[in-house]
Amino acid sequence: MPRSGARSATCDAPPNIALVKYWGVRDPALGLPYNSSLSVTLDRLRSRTTVRFDPGRPDDRVVLNGAPAGAKERGAVVAMLDRVRDAAGVSDRAEVVSENNFPTASGLASSASGFAALAAAASEAAGLALSDRALSQLARFGSGSASRSVFGGFVEWRAGRRPDGADCYARPLYPPSHWPELVDVVAMIADAPAKETRSSVAMQLSVRTSPGYANRLAEIPGRLARMRRAIGRRDAAALFPLVMEECDSFRTVCETTRPSLDYLTGASRAVIAEVRDLNRTAGRPVAAYTHDAGAHVHVFTLRRNAPRVRRRLAAVPGVASTLLVRPGPGVRRRRSTRAT
Ligand code: DP6
Repeated sequence: MPRSGARSATCDAPPNIALVKYWGVRDPALGLPYNSSLSVTLDRLRSRTTVRFDPGRPDDRVVLNGAPAGAKERGAVVAMLDRVRDAAGVSDRAEVVSENNFPTASGLASSASGFAALAAAASEAAGLALSDRALSQLARFGSGSASRSVFGGFVEWRAGRRPDGADCYARPLYPPSHWPELVDVVAMIADAPAKETRSSVAMQLSVRTSPGYANRLAEIPGRLARMRRAIGRRDAAALFPLVMEECDSFRTVCETTRPSLDYLTGASRAVIAEVRDLNRTAGRPVAAYTHDAGAHVHVFTLRRNAPRVRRRLAAVPGVASTLLVRPGPGVRRRRSTRAT
């Protein structure tokens, strides 16, 4: 039985990989991006977070993967709790316990899954009955990419135009079952360096200093529309070149940022070269690479080609392992207990 007055909720949330990257904040206070983005929510991987508001608790306590959170992580979690408390008119402190079923330091977008799970569990435990759209807007304050992890399958995060952010939210484009043939072979890079600076900070350097940033922004609406169409038609031959073009655009902006942002290792670059070679030899786009602000490389292909692609990637020196993932579900509410 829950202790009198304590309310708790547990939610799962998955990571996602962006096919059109979010890179640049137009309003840091509201977390509004310059451009819309599009992602695939991934199955098999998840953050599971329990939030328990308790009137008897003197302070917030945050436990991440079995250990008390460091000051930075704790601060970001408490900021989300404060936002939820304000909205719900709750003053109780909370215990937050979160764990990933994948190594956090692996760079598999744990901020997206972590903040989506936290926003869902905290709002549920506080008694806020949020729509999924409102939940995506709340999750955005923890991490922009978390707004997309609320939904499963193929997801668009609309940048919107309004200064108050009311038209900035994520929405599902197609469910996970839309394209059963599409798979993502993740090339896990050995000794991938841990990210030192949060992406939301690094991207502002690109906005200010990359000479290619404005051009990239101008290209995105057209690329996004073409991708949406290719996904709708399950057209890999149309989608894969667009995914690589977008990834190259993102990487070029990072590399031309001052100081330069280089997230890849030699092994990541070798994986990219391998995919290009595979496509060249086949004479058609068999696979598409993409990566976010980290060294691991996601390689999309169709199920029938997955064993071959996996073998090729596993043989690249510096690839520690490969992981096969597919489009999966978004946030799942597991349980909640009310005050007695
Ligand atoms: C390159 O929203 O994850 O993955 O939480 O500060 O790390 P932080 O920012 P986040 O930035 C995502 C950047 C990206 C592209 C994307 O996922 O759209």
